[in-house]
Amino acid sequence: MADALNTGLTAKQRADIAASLSKVLADSYALYLKTHGYHWNVRGPNFQSLHVLLEGQYQEEWAALDDIAERIRALGELAPQGYGAFGNLSSLKDGNPENEWEAMVSELKADNETVIRTLREAFPVADDAGDEATADLLTQRLQAHEKHAWMLRSTLGSK
Ligand SMILES: [Fe+2]
Repeated sequence: MADALNTGLTAKQRADIAASLSKVLADSYALYLKTHGYHWNVRGPNFQSLHVLLEGQYQEEWAALDDIAERIRALGELAPQGYGAFGNLSSLKDGNPENEWEAMVSELKADNETVIRTLREAFPVADDAGDEATADLLTQRLQAHEKHAWMLRSTLGSK
């Protein structure tokens, strides 16, 4: 049998943090997929700016998926993979390519807020265990999704 991890976190702490991160990963993956899909299908007089805005967001989100999954692996747990696993873990619904642009942007704003709430739920699990590495990753993701949500809100004309 392989040596157990000896990083100062208990097996239960690592498993609990990884479970929280798995939910974060699933919601983040679902948001990435929807943002990329709406980048393709958005239509309207502001097509070019929406297309470019969503491209910046889906690329940022895509890069973060690897960081989240690899943090789960560094904790000694397995990362969820595949549509079935992500579908079971995520609370986000698939996008609809028929939507008008306002509905797409409004949905993405709400979905970024859902991811933000999922991140906030994960934070005390990492923080209470003294897992600063995970807390740092969660903090970075909070900053990114709050920025995405702001840009989407402003596109809709809200504060
Ligand atoms: Fe593209």
